[in-house]
Amino acid sequence: MKKARILLVEDDEAQAKILANYLEHKGFEVDSTFGAKEALQKIEKESFDLILLDWRLPDEDGLTLLPKIKEKSPFTQVIMLTAFATVERAVEAIKKGAYHYLTKPVNLEELLLVIEKALKESRLEREVELLRARLEELSPPETPEIIAQSSYMKEILHLAAKVAKTDATVLILGESGTGKEILANLIYQLSPRKDKPFLKVNCAAIPEGLLESELFGYEKGAFTGADKAKPGLFELAHQGTLFLDEIGDLPLPLQAKLLRVLQDGTIRRVGGLKEMQIDVRIIAATNKDLEEMVKEGSFREDLFWRLNVFTLRIPPLRERKEDILPLAEAFLKKFAQKHGKEIRGFSREALEALFSYHFPGNVRELENIIERAVILAENEIITKEDLPPLLKGKTEIIPELLKSLPLPEAIALLEKERIKEAMASAQGIKTQAAELLGISERVLRYKLAKYGLE
Ligand SMILES: Nc1ncnc2c1ncn2[C@@H]1O[C@H](COP(=O)(O)OP(=O)(O)OP(=O)(O)O)[C@@H](O)[C@H]1O
Ligand SMILES: [Mg+2]
Repeated sequence: MKKARILLVEDDEAQAKILANYLEHKGFEVDSTFGAKEALQKIEKESFDLILLDWRLPDEDGLTLLPKIKEKSPFTQVIMLTAFATVERAVEAIKKGAYHYLTKPVNLEELLLVIEKALKESRLEREVELLRARLEELSPPETPEIIAQSSYMKEILHLAAKVAKTDATVLILGESGTGKEILANLIYQLSPRKDKPFLKVNCAAIPEGLLESELFGYEKGAFTGADKAKPGLFELAHQGTLFLDEIGDLPLPLQAKLLRVLQDGTIRRVGGLKEMQIDVRIIAATNKDLEEMVKEGSFREDLFWRLNVFTLRIPPLRERKEDILPLAEAFLKKFAQKHGKEIRGFSREALEALFSYHFPGNVRELENIIERAVILAENEIITKEDLPPLLKGKTEIIPELLKSLPLPEAIALLEKERIKEAMASAQGIKTQAAELLGISERVLRYKLAKYGLE
């Protein structure tokens, strides 16, 4: 994690030296200037987390400098230092946006406490600013419970837990509804950055023109309507994690800007000159085939390689049928509770239908199907009738279903399906069907009655 950056604006060289030495020793990165003009120039070009501002400077009064600083850099905390403290002056400084004021000679321990508190609060402030802007998207994810029965998903969770511990860029690929976002949440929650901001942006949902200022922020006057400077998501996510969802939909000009962020960790606000150092962990996701897009020229190859550091590819649900039953059961529990219904499980026909379906909408579709079924269910078992018509068509025996059923039921299911097939090929003639199955006609009749197939 990067050190917090402090700018010291103090014309008394001896005093500046003492403060700088002390703060560097305490683990901060300290830069010093002696006058107001120089200070403003610095703030123009670099970003600081905190400024220690002397009240009396050779070229300008600290108190008039303060609002200029705040305008250029609203998230930078300013602590005023003064030799002549009065209540009036203190109030005035706070009104103009100072975090605190201290009297000289400065008590170093007190200074350290105030700095730490100020930095903590400014981090909170960044988060609050964002919360206001997008309350809905920001509800911070709890460690999500990801269901993983298939070996594919187990392996993905294993890899995710490992990469979560690092700052490496993660690219999550998978069809729509396979669980890319829930996996991104998990990586964030397992990462050392879990107490820092986690911001999400859906590159497909925001119009191109807005996306740039959303990501990079803008300076006052950058365009009509920009009546005050606004930090972008990269800035707000400083020291935290940014989830770039639907990265395949990022327009080419922004791909170039994103590449720069990934390469040298700096951003520039729209209409701004200053390069800001940021420390943000990127998780990106898409359901697009990025490699194909690179070939077509709609996705930058250099950006693709920057993102493709650690890639997790979630297979579609139909390729990991072992996950269907545990997911269906978890959703059943969740929605039964939500809708206040007592439902124990699924009928065998319902399960057969679920296992035979190809789920183009993957886990999200399964989730919706189960919620609908819970709403429709008349008794304590979900039946095939509660499933959407699409699932009521032909079913086939799926090995995963056979494996998940108790042995007698699995045998019965297999038997029933074979008999249905044989009866169909024999066009209903029982002697022929019995022959196909290698059983006597008498046994066939018995079984037809047993399974209600007559
Ligand atoms: N393995 C899983 N365990 C539990 N819930 C899951 C799992 N995978 C997906 N879900 C749930 O399925 C839904 C869709 O998941 P998510 O939004 O993460 O998919 P996505 O891949 O981001 O989809 P899209 O491409 O459409 O944005 C969510 O409600 C999520 O909680
Ligand atoms: Mg998603």
